[in-house]
Amino acid sequence: MLALSSFLVLLAVASTTLSVNPGVTVRLTDKGLQYGKQLGIAAMQEKLKSIQIPDFSGSQRVSPIGKVKYSLSNIRLVNVGLPSSAVTLVPGTGVRLTIGNAFMNLHGNWRVKYLRVIKDSGSFDVNVNGLTISTTIVVKSDATGRPVVSNTNCVANVASAKVKFHGGASWLYNLFSKFINKALRNALQKQICPLVDKTVIGLNPKLQTLNVLAKVDKYAEIEYSMVSSPVISQSSLDLNLKGQFYNIGKHQEPPFIPAAFSLPSQNNNMLYMALSAFTANSAGFVYNKAGVLSLYITDDMVPKGSPFRLNTKTFGVFIPQIAKQYPGLMMKLLVRAEKSPTITFQPKNATAVATATVTAYAIQPNGTLSPLFVLNLESSVSADVYVRGLNIAGRLTLNQMKLSVGTSYVGQFQVGVLDSVLRMVLKVVVIPIVNVQLDKGYPLPALGKMNLVNPQLQIMKDYMLIGTDVNFTG
Ligand SMILES: *[C@@H]1O[C@H](CO)[C@@H](O)[C@H](O)[C@H]1NC(C)=O
Ligand SMILES: *[C@@H]1O[C@H](CO)[C@@H](O)[C@H](O)[C@H]1NC(C)=O
Repeated sequence: MLALSSFLVLLAVASTTLSVNPGVTVRLTDKGLQYGKQLGIAAMQEKLKSIQIPDFSGSQRVSPIGKVKYSLSNIRLVNVGLPSSAVTLVPGTGVRLTIGNAFMNLHGNWRVKYLRVIKDSGSFDVNVNGLTISTTIVVKSDATGRPVVSNTNCVANVASAKVKFHGGASWLYNLFSKFINKALRNALQKQICPLVDKTVIGLNPKLQTLNVLAKVDKYAEIEYSMVSSPVISQSSLDLNLKGQFYNIGKHQEPPFIPAAFSLPSQNNNMLYMALSAFTANSAGFVYNKAGVLSLYITDDMVPKGSPFRLNTKTFGVFIPQIAKQYPGLMMKLLVRAEKSPTITFQPKNATAVATATVTAYAIQPNGTLSPLFVLNLESSVSADVYVRGLNIAGRLTLNQMKLSVGTSYVGQFQVGVLDSVLRMVLKVVVIPIVNVQLDKGYPLPALGKMNLVNPQLQIMKDYMLIGTDVNFTG
C-alpha cells in the first residue's frame, strides 16, 4: 500500500517536472515588478496600521523616591511611512523586498503613583525611526497550476524610538524613556514580520483568480494553468502556461505539441505575453473536432447588390450543363473543412492554410438537394491579429486559393472557370462570417480586475508577442 502510494506520488511529481513546452508564456519585467511594488507597499502600509501595542504596567524602584507604580495605556499608531523600498528578482526563488527608513508615530497615555498618595498622568508621543524590513517572497505553482506566494527570511529592525512626554515631572522621563524604548522595540519587532507575512499571503486570493480554464464559447475553453514552476531570472519572472484550447468537457490532445520558443529581451512594458502557433493550432483542432468548421451558403447570404446569384443560371454561364439539366433553380453550397487549419507565424506574418471541400447543390422545388459537383479548396489567408480588452481577436483576408474538381455530377468542366466565383464566395460570404467569430475574441490569461494598458502586438517566428502595461481596478 505504502509502495503504491509512493509510486503514485512519484508519478505525479514526474508528470509535473517533465519538461513540457508551454503554449503561452507570460513574462513580468522589472517595470512590472516595480508597479507591483507600488501596490504591495500600499497594502503593506495599510496592514502595518493594525499594529497593536499592549498596555504596560508595573512598578520600579527609583531613588530617592522609592517604589513607583506606572502604567502606559491606549498606545496607538498614528502614522506609518514607508518612504523607501526596493524589489529585486531572486533567480530561482522569487522577489526580494527591502524597506528602509520607515517610520511610525505612536501616541499613548501614562499614569504613575508613588509615595503612596501622589498620582500623576499625561500623554506621550513616540517617533520610531530607521525601521528596516527585508524579506523574500517565494513564488511557486500550486496544485491547480496557479501562482502562489509565501514569505521567508523576514527580518525587521527598529533603529531608534524617541519618546516625548507631555506633563509630569522630569525625573519620570528618564524612567520611562528607557523602558518604553525597549518595550516598544520588542513589540514592534515581534509584530512587523507576521504582518508582512499576512500582506504577502494576502496576494494569494488575487493570484487564485488566474483564469486557468477560460471559457471561450459553447464549444471551447482555453487551459492556462502553469506547466512548470515559474522561471525567475535576474531580469524577469516567466510563467509558463499550457495555453491550449480544448473542447468543453472533453479534453482530447491534438496530434502536435508546442515547439520551444524564447522571448526577446524586451523590457519596455510591464508584461509580455507570448502565444504560440501551437495555441492557435489547438483552436483549429478543437473547432474542427466540434464539427463547426462548415457552412451552408444560400443566395440570401450573398450581398443584395452582387450581380452574382447563387442559382443555376449564374453557374450555367460557366458550366452550361447545369443550366440545361437544372433550369431555373436556386443553389446551395456547403463549405466544409476537411482537416484542421494550420496556422503559422513568421515575423510580421500570420498565415492560416485551410483545406476544405465545396459541394454545390441545386435546390429542387420540393426542397430536395441535387448534388452538382464537389470541389477541393486549398486556401491561404492572412490574419490581422489585435488585442481588445482582455481578448485576442483577429480578421482574415484571402491570400491565395487553389481549386480542383473532386467529383462532378454535371459532366467534365475546367475548374478554372469557377475560380472567380469561388473567390467571391470566400471574400464576401465565408470570410466575413468567420471574421464575425474571430472579432469576438479569445480570452488572454488574466488576473481578475486586470486591465491592459496600451497593448502592442507583434508577430514573431512561431509566436505572437503582446507587450503591455497593466493596471488593476480594485
Ligand atoms: C506570409 O507567410 C506565408 C507562409 O507562411 C507566405 O506564403 C506569404 O507569402 C507570407 N506573406 C508575406 C506578406 O510575407
Ligand atoms: C423532388 O423532386 C425531384 C425532381 O423533380 C425528384 O427527383 C424527387 O424524387 C423529389 N423528391 C421527393 C421527396 O418528392
